[in-house]
Amino acid sequence: MEENARTPLIAGNWKMHKNGKQGAELVRRILELLSPVPGVEAEIVVCPPFTALCQVREVFREGQLPGCKVGLGAQNMHWEQEGAFTGEISPLMLREFGCEYVIVGHSERRILFGESDAVVNRKVKAACENGLRPILCVGEDARQRQEGRTQAVVEKQVTAGLAGLTPAQIDRAVVAYEPVWAIGTGSPATGADAQEVAAWIRRVLQGLAGTGALGTRILYGGSVKPDNIADFAARPDIDGALVGGASLEPESFAAIVQGWG
Ligand code: 13P
Repeated sequence: MEENARTPLIAGNWKMHKNGKQGAELVRRILELLSPVPGVEAEIVVCPPFTALCQVREVFREGQLPGCKVGLGAQNMHWEQEGAFTGEISPLMLREFGCEYVIVGHSERRILFGESDAVVNRKVKAACENGLRPILCVGEDARQRQEGRTQAVVEKQVTAGLAGLTPAQIDRAVVAYEPVWAIGTGSPATGADAQEVAAWIRRVLQGLAGTGALGTRILYGGSVKPDNIADFAARPDIDGALVGGASLEPESFAAIVQGWG
């Protein structure tokens, strides 16, 4: 692999937690905790619920971090710009709220809300076409791992999820490897196992986009905590983390960001 010039990305997926006020407080505290540290060379993204985006954005407008880019992401969206889709949120609506990223195909959406690879692909394409950067989530469940199917599952999800994208779009996209069995369980993958799958994803990306995929960031997600982040940070094909539970506590999220550097 060539030298890693990819800016590390630490993203917090708040899932269905925090109202607007709580979200603003959380982000204010994260910025406070990180601001005395000069030059944390990472990009930080938080993905609150839709209803908290506005108030979190206001905090971002007020405070910036030296050496650190902070950004906003959403957790889901519809693929159309507008229409008769009761209860849905469009990419343009997310742009209006200052979102730069959107999580697509999280395993909770695949499993609990029946999102297929085809739906995930429509959303990924719509994100790219509307100026959002997709964070495409992929990962095997416990049974698939036991059966030795991890690579096949992940390859299919990456290939189907990114189908139809140009190399430039793939380059700007983010892939999050989140083994289902590691999410919310307190039992993360080992750094070595996550690196093995991340390297495989890198090969799949290169198959899709050639050298165009060199900038694509691959994150690890699943029970990331301050005390295990260093193990992921040390791996050449892991470019950051997608953090669930630990992103809801300012101290632990800030410690994860600092632990990357
Ligand atoms: P946890 O960090 O709580 O395991 O969640 C991971 C996740 O699903 C992030 O998208």
